[in-house]
Amino acid sequence: MTPMQPGAINENETTDTSVTQGTADMPSAPPWAIALAAARRECRDGMSPFLEWHLARKFTVMSQLFEQYVAPESRFLDMACGSGDGLLLASLLRPDAELWGLDIDRQSLDLAARKVPGARLHHGDLLTPPLRLGHFDVVHEFGATFFFRDWNALARVYMSLLRDDGILLWELPQKWSAGHLAYLLSWAPKITEADTKPKRFFRSFLPSKYKYETDEAVLQALEQSGVPFEVLGRVPIWYFFCNGVFATLVNRAARARGIQALDALDRINGRFWPRYSGYYLVVRRCAPRRTRLVDERPSVLSPKVAKA
Ligand SMILES: C[S@@+](CC[C@H](N)C(=O)[O-])C[C@H]1O[C@@H](n2cnc3c(N)ncnc32)[C@H](O)[C@@H]1O
Repeated sequence: MTPMQPGAINENETTDTSVTQGTADMPSAPPWAIALAAARRECRDGMSPFLEWHLARKFTVMSQLFEQYVAPESRFLDMACGSGDGLLLASLLRPDAELWGLDIDRQSLDLAARKVPGARLHHGDLLTPPLRLGHFDVVHEFGATFFFRDWNALARVYMSLLRDDGILLWELPQKWSAGHLAYLLSWAPKITEADTKPKRFFRSFLPSKYKYETDEAVLQALEQSGVPFEVLGRVPIWYFFCNGVFATLVNRAARARGIQALDALDRINGRFWPRYSGYYLVVRRCAPRRTRLVDERPSVLSPKVAKA
């Protein structure tokens, strides 16, 4: 997605009024549609049918999870918040929540600040967040994990930011999903502000340019965080993903046959290659089991030794 020029976005100035206000016979649009409209306005060259479909699914599932797990006055943290779509959704659904965002890209943070003026936004690295440990009721992350080599470190950071009983909403791609295969064939991502095109070109031939892990490795990463947890569920978003020349073909088909063609492709993908290009892992941080102090045990030692 091409970022918008600074100054080009104004959340109060929606051109597509049907999306935000509704009409007499149509109720106000759901929050996911408002987030989609905001993302659409950021897309300078317009959105392809595939991107439109992809984001509509993403925001629908995201808003269902926020409805379920973000309480009205939660402390909600969006890790790698980007230009603030997740924060915007959270603010629409939970106007009284305390909203925090962190990202390494200042331009994205500027956009996020304009979309969600009340959010507390921080510039920094996900692995060394300048944030209080144990402070958050919900930690959310979407679309950043596959940039990181060390998922153990990510799990450790996410779990350490949660309070006991807090919820981690961690969006993950499954290994060997359509998304994984599509990214194997695409350009390596820009990983630092100073990253150059020749370096990216060279890295594009390395299978390690994006990181995908097995489901077992994700659970091991959580276990290695040393924090007790329980997995509450796995919530699918999409099976289907494509980019490059495939996306061009898919967009042509979707323009000719309608966006339902993409739902059909997703169903076919799920039937014959049932791996999620994106799903949420929902994890609860559990309170540590209370360790009994030695003094509380009925003493089996002689009174003299126990006293000492
Ligand atoms: C694909 S975007 C997803 C943005 C947002 N979560 C969303 O769903 O629209 C990935 C984001 O991860 C951020 N990111 C990548 N590496 C990071 C790091 N080391 N620390 C913090 N943010 C990082 C990028 O700046 C970018 O905004």
